[in-house]
Amino acid sequence: MPAPQTPNLDLDAALEKAEAIAREAGAILCQHYERVPEFNHKSTSLDLVTAADKETEAFIVGALQAAFPGTHLVGEEGGGYGAPAGSTPYHWYVDPLDGTVNFAHRIPFFSVSIALSDADLNPLLGVVYDPLRDEAFKGIRGRGATLNGRRLRVTKEPSLGSAMLVTGFPYDRWTNPNNNADHFAHFLRRAQAIRCVGSAALDLSYVACGRYEAYWESGPNPWDVQAGILFVEEAGGRVSDYRGARSLQARRGHQIVASNGHVHDQVVAVLTLGDDAPRPTES
Ligand code: IPD
Ligand code: CA
Ligand code: CA
Repeated sequence: MPAPQTPNLDLDAALEKAEAIAREAGAILCQHYERVPEFNHKSTSLDLVTAADKETEAFIVGALQAAFPGTHLVGEEGGGYGAPAGSTPYHWYVDPLDGTVNFAHRIPFFSVSIALSDADLNPLLGVVYDPLRDEAFKGIRGRGATLNGRRLRVTKEPSLGSAMLVTGFPYDRWTNPNNNADHFAHFLRRAQAIRCVGSAALDLSYVACGRYEAYWESGPNPWDVQAGILFVEEAGGRVSDYRGARSLQARRGHQIVASNGHVHDQVVAVLTLGDDAPRPTES
């Protein structure tokens, strides 16, 4: 039987539906958050999964499949669902709970991330929902992005020395020599401050709305970053890999820098030159 054809999606209607699904998913997370969390380990003993991740992904995937038959879906916990990837230009990337380690420790910082992307990992629309703050970031490619209705804009800060940065560390950091500790040390001597708060989707969303000047990380996956990439780019910022290219590696999140654009080359210089990169002078 031929694969079902997907008619051109109405992106406005799709975003509205995706936001409604993300909000319902957030309510499921909040119900779980009230209880004592139970978790299992995934790739390493640092990488956790809870009942909340699984139940929320099942809800989101079921709702997206019902609303958008013929599309392909990738969920963090369950892999691929729906139509085969090669049969449709529409690929959903779902992270039901971004910030699982925070959640498991009852730290109130996590999100739901849903993106619709083309087959080359260019996001078409996205929503990231922080249920505890009731903050909904959303956007459509070429049409801008918003936070609770307010247009997202990156900051105009031009100097790394005055920049607030955010990063994350890979789950195999106990054994992986490329565990970001060296980059972190180099930025520590060059930026105003660095945060590490445990939700890549919110890290990118916060760059887009001007709370951070830049984010860098190696290790995330498309479900962590696709929605946030769209927000940063729609807010006037820039996304690349550690060499400054908007490569597949960057779009996958495997090695990503996202910034307000103005400090981007300075961030890339630190990632490529290490301690040989220029340092701000103290005034
Ligand atoms: C993780 C978070 C974290 C980032 C990791 C992600 P999870 O997602 O986004 O900030 O550093 O790379 O895997 O496991 O909480 O869904
Ligand atoms: Ca994640
Ligand atoms: Ca997750």
